[in-house]
Formats: sequence, structure tokens, C-alpha cells
Amino acid sequence: MRGHIEERASGNFVSSTAELRRLTTPQDLFQAAAEEVIRTATDAVKARGRFTIALSGGSTPRNLYTLIAANASASLPWDQMFFFWGDERHVPPNDPDSNFLMAKESLLSKVAVPPANIFPIPTENPDASAAAEAYEQTLRKFFAVAPGEFPRFDHILLGMGPDGHTASLFPETAALQEKSRLVVANWVEKLKASRITLTLPVLNAAHSVAFLVSGTDKAAALHEVLEGNAAAEKYPSKLVRPTDGRLIWFVDRAAASELSTAA
Ligand code: 6PG
Repeated sequence: MRGHIEERASGNFVSSTAELRRLTTPQDLFQAAAEEVIRTATDAVKARGRFTIALSGGSTPRNLYTLIAANASASLPWDQMFFFWGDERHVPPNDPDSNFLMAKESLLSKVAVPPANIFPIPTENPDASAAAEAYEQTLRKFFAVAPGEFPRFDHILLGMGPDGHTASLFPETAALQEKSRLVVANWVEKLKASRITLTLPVLNAAHSVAFLVSGTDKAAALHEVLEGNAAAEKYPSKLVRPTDGRLIWFVDRAAASELSTAA
């Protein structure tokens, strides 16, 4: 899986614990991100006996999941790995727009992860708020989280939209203000749809968070998020700053094309 070319830069462009990994091509980006997932999974199982990950949706991660399935199906401790989602569209699990379906097709159906280790967001519930509440209870139970505390995922994968949204935390939507819930239903006016999403306190409680940003259409938002001074509510990815965890931005050359050359 070696061979991708990347520059590593860490610095205060986002926060002192953030790392920017500039890759050349989308394939290089997927290879680097896959290595990070494999590394964090191996380390977490060694350190804590299990690995918990929140998967991202959309189109970017599909190639990452395919690569992991192709390269690590025989080498990872799948029975000690537990799969959750950072967000979900409010559609049934067999809907083409389902983030669960995409991950199932590209990864989970190809590796020996026990079905009991897979925790989809229960979007078959027609009431988005009830689905969010149910998922919150699932997280509280699995992570044995006391009231006021937040689950610490070992790894959270995130994408970023051209508007700077991440998970289903869209610009100037109610979910951005959530400080105590773990999971909420978030009405997204521009989509005329409800989404179900982990909240910022959960994202920022993670041991590590990896953004995967690929393509020219993300370049303006990436510049704004990493280097601009617009209000964070307009670019919610800016609000992801793990309090005691690693933040890594995997970006390809196209997405990084509006960044200043300085590291
Ligand atoms: C979703 C994702 C969302 C996604 C971005 C980027 O449910 O769509 O969680 O936050 O990561 O919209 O999507 P692409 O990878 O398709 O550009």
C-alpha cells in the first residue's frame, strides 16, 4: 500500500494538534487514509482491546472502503472492530442514498466483521428525531456513557461538502448549537430533508478524526476552513477540533489548489 507521495505539514493552520497531509492524486489520498485506519485499528485493539469507528458517507469514502476491504480483509481483527456512522440520510437502509448501504456494499459485506459489531442508524423509523434518540441510546449503552459525558470513538472519518459542511452539520443549521445530545435529527432547508448526525461534542471527543477531501469543487471551502476567517457557523468543518485527539486532513492536489503554499 506504500508508494503514495505526500507532504506532511503540521502547524497552526487549524489547531496545534492538526496535521495536513497533502496527497497528489485521489488514489494516493485513499491509500494514505486506509493506512491510517489500519494503524489506528491495530493500535486501539492493542491498547484497549477493541476499535470503534464512525464511518462517513457521501461518495469520497467509497474508494477508501473498497481499498481497506481489498488490502486488509485478512490482516485486521474484525471481530474486535465496531462500526458506527457519523451521519445518515433519513432514508431506508436499502435506499441508494443510504450511507449504511454504501459502506455495506464497499466494505462490510467483504470482511469478516460480525453483524453484531455493526450499528447502523435506525432510519427505518419514519420519525427522524426518534431515530436519533434511539441511536443516542445505542451509543450511551455501548460506550457506557454517563449523563454529561461523551463517547470517545477511536477514529471518526469525515468528509467535507463544497459548502464546508461535515457529517450532517450544515451551515447555520440547528445541530451546530447542540452541546449535550450525542445524536440529533437536523433539518437541512436547502435539501428540504432531515438528516441524522453525531453532534460536535461527540466528534470532538474522538481519539482521532480524519477528514478526506478530494476534488476541485472542495478547494474554495478547504481554503476557507483551514486558512480563512469566515464565521465557523458558515463552514462547520471549522468546528471540528478534537479536545484530546488527533485531527488529520487528507487532501489531494485538486482540493488543496487554493491553499497557500506555506505548510
Ligand atoms: C453525507 C456525508 C457528508 C459528506 C460530504 C462530502 O452523508 O453525505 O456524511 O458529510 O461527507 O457531503 O460528500 P462527498 O464525499 O460525496 O463529496
